[in-house]
Amino acid sequence: MKQQLTREAFVAKDACDTLCKYRDAFLIPDGMIYLDGNSLGMLPHACAVRARQVVEEEWGRTLISSWNEHGWIDLPLRIGAKIAVLIGADSDEVVVCDSVSVNLFKVLASAVAMRPGRHVIVTNDDNFPTDVYIAEGLCALLGANYKLRFASPAHIERALDHDVVAVSFSHVDYKSARIEDMAAITAKVHAAGALAIWDLSHSVGAVPVDLNGARVDFAVGCGYKYLNGGPGAPAFLFAARGHHAQMRQPLSGWLGHAAPFAFGSRYTPAAGIARMITGTPPVVSMALLETAVALVAEAGIERLRAKSKDMTSLLIELVARECPGLELASPTDPNARGSHVIFAHPEGYAIVQALKARGVIGDFRAPHFVRLGIAPLYLSYAELWDAVQRLKQVMDGREWDQDRFRVRAAVT
Ligand SMILES: Cc1ncc(COP(=O)(O)O)c(C=O)c1O
Repeated sequence: MKQQLTREAFVAKDACDTLCKYRDAFLIPDGMIYLDGNSLGMLPHACAVRARQVVEEEWGRTLISSWNEHGWIDLPLRIGAKIAVLIGADSDEVVVCDSVSVNLFKVLASAVAMRPGRHVIVTNDDNFPTDVYIAEGLCALLGANYKLRFASPAHIERALDHDVVAVSFSHVDYKSARIEDMAAITAKVHAAGALAIWDLSHSVGAVPVDLNGARVDFAVGCGYKYLNGGPGAPAFLFAARGHHAQMRQPLSGWLGHAAPFAFGSRYTPAAGIARMITGTPPVVSMALLETAVALVAEAGIERLRAKSKDMTSLLIELVARECPGLELASPTDPNARGSHVIFAHPEGYAIVQALKARGVIGDFRAPHFVRLGIAPLYLSYAELWDAVQRLKQVMDGREWDQDRFRVRAAVT
């Protein structure tokens, strides 16, 4: 049924939204409409409370005993088990550590060791840059035999042969929000004898993922986007249980050792996913991520996805009606689209800045995309309506057409 496009109808949707209570769990700055939860999630009040507790009580008073008394040492596996529920993994297949970039390096290098005699890593050249750069860096380190090969996920079969070690794609594209068919692509990769690696940064917490259902080998993903773990929150790493015994990662640090506190002079990897850990976990960031993930898990990924699809569809419809100068560059089918929407416009950067001046925070992605993220856990339908009205004012009044909005900041 066609939905009514009026503010009253949007306010009525908020009244029926079973997720609306989670809005109160977040610090929402007055007057701001935040459409950037896909880059950095908002602050849950519980994280601010937890931050004080972990800093003042645990670090402040219990000091080093906290590693045991407050379970700091268990954080990487404990949070991993909580994230596992959101991505179709078992609780012993996910660990939280390092950044997405570092974790990708570890899984790519593990894949290389698991496929001796093969020399090619496949990715798409419009993948998130770090995914390309890390594969490039690993190939350079391994020597002239190793090569990066670019292929689009839609035509992966053209790039597969007996020299391919692994294929590394993002599940949800960071620009277009296009969702890849994880199960079908993984099956093709396996048929060629290679391993499938997925970056879930723009999926986790917004789009359901079934890693084991799709028989994925390795995955990585972000803690600071839809999981709301805070700026620079640690990332996660998934490895299918069947690979645990044979996988060897090159950043063989002491906390991935079988017995770190034996302080042996030779490396013996821990059993299971713990061998993917390298060094000391950033405890404060980890504690915040643990608190934030609990909120997402409680809300439930299916409910979040249903609201997200509804909201991105409404956003697309409203922008088409109110801002015809913005050209949709995301899939029109909600089932093929993640939780953000991008629009192309030659003045995309200035538009994002002018919108920000009106209190609506989105982001810009080169070369000319306005990217608007929907974080269904805390965004209201009324805000969505109001954001598009402000965008309309920016477009109709050419508010973006000012020099001050063209000055590029370091972070866009
Ligand atoms: C798909 C994707 N991968 C990785 C990252 C970031 O990786 P890192 O945690 O190493 O900064 C991002 C950040 O936006 C991303 O969108």
